[in-house]
Amino acid sequence: MILVTGGAGFIGANFVLDWLNGNGEGVINLDKLTYAGNLQTLASLESDPRHVFVQGDIGDRELVSRLLQEYQVRAVINFAAESHVDRSIHGPGEFIQTNVVGTFNLLEAVRAYWNALEGEAKAAFRFLHVSTDEVYGTLSATDAPFSESNRYEPNSPYSASKAASDHLVRAWHHTYGLPVLTTNCSNNYGPYHFPEKLIPLVILNALAGKPLPIYGDGQQIRDWLYVKDHCSAIRTVLAQGRLGETYNVGGWNEKANLDVVHTICSILDTLRPKADGTGYAEQITYVQDRPGHDRRYAIDARKLERELGWKPAETFESGIRKTVQWYLDNQDWVSNVTSGNYRQWLEQHYGNKA
Ligand SMILES: NC(=O)c1ccc[n+]([C@@H]2O[C@H](COP(=O)([O-])OP(=O)(O)OC[C@H]3O[C@@H](n4cnc5c(N)ncnc54)[C@H](O)[C@@H]3O)[C@@H](O)[C@H]2O)c1
Repeated sequence: MILVTGGAGFIGANFVLDWLNGNGEGVINLDKLTYAGNLQTLASLESDPRHVFVQGDIGDRELVSRLLQEYQVRAVINFAAESHVDRSIHGPGEFIQTNVVGTFNLLEAVRAYWNALEGEAKAAFRFLHVSTDEVYGTLSATDAPFSESNRYEPNSPYSASKAASDHLVRAWHHTYGLPVLTTNCSNNYGPYHFPEKLIPLVILNALAGKPLPIYGDGQQIRDWLYVKDHCSAIRTVLAQGRLGETYNVGGWNEKANLDVVHTICSILDTLRPKADGTGYAEQITYVQDRPGHDRRYAIDARKLERELGWKPAETFESGIRKTVQWYLDNQDWVSNVTSGNYRQWLEQHYGNKA
């Protein structure tokens, strides 16, 4: 079996769903279920014996050690993190606790387990750490996209805590020989994205007739990747990545935030035109910029393409259309998130199985 941490979050849940769709191998899903964890996303797996959900913290060494032993885990994929930049500005403590201290404890539990393995099981074991392009800092309009050899220059408490976790993972390879892989990915979007993030927020506010808030001048550039493409990149790196290496993952889709918002508005104008004949773009409002807001991120994903043959399946245009359609088709999921009811899903549906 594989152990996925943070598998009830946006990317982790997409990963678990895709993994079990295309693969018979079971998943132990360890997630603390913070506000960002949503078991309703995994409702289709409720009676699937290949999915074992465990509510718990990656920082709980005893629990992680027990799960590794009990299920004879052959790989760990670490998605668990505090992930929202705005939250990290208002309360950085949780980010240090989970992203830094939690990753340290996870690495120590995994190291002890891996040390005790022998032969083929030891040689085949992998620890894959999922990280972000934000560790590289910010780019000017003319800088080349981030490659794996760029310096780490994190600017927010979130990216600093992720950078610290990447360094720990690297050190556990160089010092203890732990068979690690790291991926640094650009901004993801797609189904099951928590509506505090730009793309789902804009779709849902537009439909609700609310303002569409744009930070500053809206010219911050992000490199967008459809979440399913990120998941396929992680599967590729897990299967074929060279030990100790990092791989940048991106979709070659640099867009200014304002352009992303206009694209969503025009898709909605077609799929769900407003009764009063006005366009959704009229709801755009500019709000004060986030402190320390990075201007541009862009990923050079050529190493992953060249060495492991990975390519994204979606363009931004195809992926964003699918995403808007998904939010229109999944009002149930959306209303449970916006009402807060998703937080009761564990008790109501999993009972004491978790
Ligand atoms: N969203 C993006 O655009 C993006 C891009 C690149 C990399 N990443 C990285 O990918 C990973 C997943 O991101 P996401 O957007 O799915 O995040 P998310 O916030 O949607 O999900 C995080 C999950 O981790 C769980 N979690 C938090 N603290 C935990 C702990 N101490 N122990 C166990 N579980 C815990 C939460 O309950 C949640 O289910 C993160 O490591 C993030 O840094 C995200």
